[in-house]
Amino acid sequence: MMSANNTLYITTPIYYVNDVPHIGHAYTTVAADVLARYWRLHGREVFFLTGLDEHGQKVQQAAAKAGIDPQAHCDKLAPQFRHLWTRLNISNDAFIRTTDVQHIKVVQRYLQELFEKQLIYKADYSGWYCTFDERFWTEKDVENGLCPDCKRTVEKLSEHNYFFKMGQYQDRLIEHIKKHDRFIRPESRRNEVLGFLTTQKLGDLSISRPKTRLSWGIELPFDTDYVTYVWFDALVNYVSALEYLPRETPVGHRFWPANVHLVGKDILTTHAVYWSTMLMALNLPLPETIFAHGWWTVDGEKMSKSRGNVVDPYKMIDEFGVDAFRYFLLREVPFGQDGDFSLTGMITRINSDLANGLGNLLSRTLTLIERTQGGVIPAPGPTGPAEQELEQATITLLREILPRHLEQLEFNRALEGIWHVVQLANQYVDKTAPWTLAKSERDAAQLKTVLYTMAEILRCLSIATYAVMPKSAQTICAQLGLADDYVQSLEIGTIQWGDLLPGTAIRKGPSLFPRIDSKTQGAKPVTDSSVPSQPTATVPTPTPAAPVVPQVTIDEFMKVQLRTAKILSAERVPKSEKLIKLQVSLGDEQRQIVAGIGKKYEPDVLVGKTIVIVANLKPAKLMGIESQGMVLAAGDTDVRGLLTIQEEVDPGTKVK
Ligand code: MSP
Repeated sequence: MMSANNTLYITTPIYYVNDVPHIGHAYTTVAADVLARYWRLHGREVFFLTGLDEHGQKVQQAAAKAGIDPQAHCDKLAPQFRHLWTRLNISNDAFIRTTDVQHIKVVQRYLQELFEKQLIYKADYSGWYCTFDERFWTEKDVENGLCPDCKRTVEKLSEHNYFFKMGQYQDRLIEHIKKHDRFIRPESRRNEVLGFLTTQKLGDLSISRPKTRLSWGIELPFDTDYVTYVWFDALVNYVSALEYLPRETPVGHRFWPANVHLVGKDILTTHAVYWSTMLMALNLPLPETIFAHGWWTVDGEKMSKSRGNVVDPYKMIDEFGVDAFRYFLLREVPFGQDGDFSLTGMITRINSDLANGLGNLLSRTLTLIERTQGGVIPAPGPTGPAEQELEQATITLLREILPRHLEQLEFNRALEGIWHVVQLANQYVDKTAPWTLAKSERDAAQLKTVLYTMAEILRCLSIATYAVMPKSAQTICAQLGLADDYVQSLEIGTIQWGDLLPGTAIRKGPSLFPRIDSKTQGAKPVTDSSVPSQPTATVPTPTPAAPVVPQVTIDEFMKVQLRTAKILSAERVPKSEKLIKLQVSLGDEQRQIVAGIGKKYEPDVLVGKTIVIVANLKPAKLMGIESQGMVLAAGDTDVRGLLTIQEEVDPGTKVK
């Protein structure tokens, strides 16, 4: 993100206070927060603005419904947004409300300026008006008397209004968009805007409403019978805030133009066209980037109050923790695309990426340091290729991968990059098996190398994850024995591998991300601070796994004979959706197995696969067909995937 000076200005839309905040509001604000935190680590002087859009018909109607006056309604709802931002750890530098008197003055000043320049004029206007969207539509837009956007009934209105000469900026705007390929992003949205600007004539913009129809707005300085149209008031916030916020020391116009306006796809036109042309008329430079993100659906459906499926961010934070929610929002869907929210999706991410991934890495590292080094980070012994590879991957992550993706607002790719290192680190622990090294004095130096490397990776991961998960990054630092504000005080460009000081006393604490039991749909984490971390499935660590299922002895387990089998043929069992009859080869014998995998697989794709079966299961009949064994598959009630063997092995090989 370029700036002639070192400043960086990031904004979110200002949210209507017609209702309480939902996941859509949280999404943009978290994304903006990640950028703000990330760029502060790069030493940029960041101004991060969010706030509320308090005027207009929607707010007036919501207040009327609640039986209170609009200002009282706004004052009642504003804390709900502010409080949510506190709970979500949003580090905004200022919070604007369009009912602030200073904002109102700036809007009126700009209106007066444009009026005097004759860029605002009065004219008759008639068209189809949608109260919900607060906008007029032309005859050709409206089909069957419905708003083309929200599909609500529109009404024919005719009135005098004031207009901004937006149309005259059409060519200049097209030229600007063509010249600046980062101005509207993502690319697909840029093409959309260019598409309509180059094929349709841009009209002038009605910027007023008669007070007889809408009283809750900013009065026009040159005609007190009118208030300004909501967008002229709202968009100006991005500039007015610089003049009077933060309260004591306004940051001033040196922050203008904004580097990024983050908006939802539905309000891209108002920003890319209305706002840009307003700025042109006011002789102010245009923002560097307007980035339009996609919308969340919920379990595949549009989110709406009437469907009762509105995702409440407060609830998500309470149930899953603030960082898990922040992580999910940015990891799950590429920024710019639409995405679907589901509790199952969220729980899967928490368990696999957070609890089993990063959380497990922290807990195994600290447990091992506690048990074998008296709780003190050891000085590393000699290092080899494995450590050098990890060092390289970690430094590349901080110096190349994160900047590359965050510069492009590819939050999901940045997180993928971080989790690649988490995975490498966990694999390193699995391979070096420090719990075995700890058994022999001869391996003491290597053990120290492994433990130091693990702790140093975690220090670097706290820096890498900080922007997305500030609270967890702080916890990692605290548990590693570093200062709570360790990351904030860093300059990311100066980070070196090996800065972690041997001799630092660790402070192991509660597990970072408790596993969530999907059966209770996130109602309760399965583990809590009193339960040690989960080892990965294949590797024993010194900390025992939480006993969530009855345990079996090794002798009991050895009674089960697992073998590989090659599928020779497969066909559906008639009248069953689920069952497939398989003929499999175990090398020296052929078996028939009836498996409940028909919802996941078509018979054709199974033939030729080498799978794993329980070979000594007592034969049983399923829908009258004998099954001589059982196929192993991942999944609980639903089959998610068959167990197969990566390498070529003979059918019938024992699996242990
Ligand atoms: N007040 C105007 C913005 C003025 S900016 C100068 C407004 N407010 S809003 O509260 O209705 O919407 C705010 C943001 O929430 C928009 O960016 C919109 O895209 C976003 N979202 C609303 N529902 C959403 C989803 N279901 N998913 C993602 N974002 C969504 O518009």
